[in-house]
Amino acid sequence: MNKINIAIDGPAAAGKSTIAKRVAEALRMVYVDTGAMYRAITLAHLNNQETSFKELVGQLELRLINDDGQRVLLNGEDITDRIRENDITENVSFVASQQEVREFLVQLQQLMTRDKGVVMDGRDIGTTVIPDAELKIYMIASVEERANRRLLDNAARGIVSTYDQLVADISERDHLDMTRDISPLSKAEDAIQIDTTGLTIDKVTERILALAEEKLQ
Ligand code: DC
Repeated sequence: MNKINIAIDGPAAAGKSTIAKRVAEALRMVYVDTGAMYRAITLAHLNNQETSFKELVGQLELRLINDDGQRVLLNGEDITDRIRENDITENVSFVASQQEVREFLVQLQQLMTRDKGVVMDGRDIGTTVIPDAELKIYMIASVEERANRRLLDNAARGIVSTYDQLVADISERDHLDMTRDISPLSKAEDAIQIDTTGLTIDKVTERILALAEEKLQ
């Protein structure tokens, strides 16, 4: 097979985006971070709280640009850094639980994966968006390790946070993402689970690349 789709799912801050980006680069595939799409709609919602979700998704223009990772444009404005801020993280699970939002984004994501050659990360990629993906990975890591990684990430982005707050935020987001009614976070039956606790980014990337090479033969 010369073209495949790779679905990478897992809880918040398990390392999905970093690894998915590396895998896509190595295989010259397109990288899509679907969490950023839910974050973009969260920003639109915070800016237009009176607008219903149905109307909101009908109005917005969302563009993803592959450029050393992924840049996100909402109605022409580059919001890549803005959507990592705390107010977005605090509200994104609520927005992602709205049926109109999920229908809109899943349809968009399915269009992006139609011609294959995509590494897509999120929560429902292997279960709902691309159930026929050639390779499905379910990535997990301990809450403590995820909080530590996010702490470093945030510091690099200039976002102020504390370890204890991050443990609480990540645990709450896990709970909300796993218990929502529509497409809750869960491992697809045919996904390969990788626990990244204590593993380096390079090790996890190598492991996924080896699995992808098998499918590409
Ligand atoms: O990966 P992230 O932390 O940027 O994702 C932000 C939120 O978006 C996450 O809390 C759950 C939601 N999400 C989702 O429901 N489905 C996806 N495919 C991706 C993210």
